[in-house]
Amino acid sequence: MSTAEVDISQVPVGSGVTVKWRGKPVFLRHRTEAEIEEARAVDVSDLRDPQTDDARVVKPEWLVIVGICTHLGCVPLGNKPSEQRGEFGGYFCPCHGSHYDTSGRIRRGPAPTNLAVPEYEFTSDTVVRIG
Ligand code: FES
Repeated sequence: MSTAEVDISQVPVGSGVTVKWRGKPVFLRHRTEAEIEEARAVDVSDLRDPQTDDARVVKPEWLVIVGICTHLGCVPLGNKPSEQRGEFGGYFCPCHGSHYDTSGRIRRGPAPTNLAVPEYEFTSDTVVRIG
């Protein structure tokens, strides 16, 4: 299937869910206020792949990203509460040590670009359609 519908009504703040879309993991994270603030406070000119947080989200409380490290394709940690989230509080790729922030932007390590944002839309307050 080229699209995936995800019910996000049961995903608490500060937690995430992972779904498969076109054979790839997609992370949907219900961000906390602190995570949103942190993502917005970053000076974009310091970034390797400069993108504002606003340009990466439809609704600030939901981050939707492809969970594939842009270095060599491992699946980063951080979408489950028990997992390491790296030095910037977002995602951490243990393969070669790439650290991503709460917007999924690359901040340290070998990955060249931010975690990709797939095409998606909210079809209701509780359903996201990816693709
Ligand atoms: Fe993620 Fe290399 S594949 S750091």
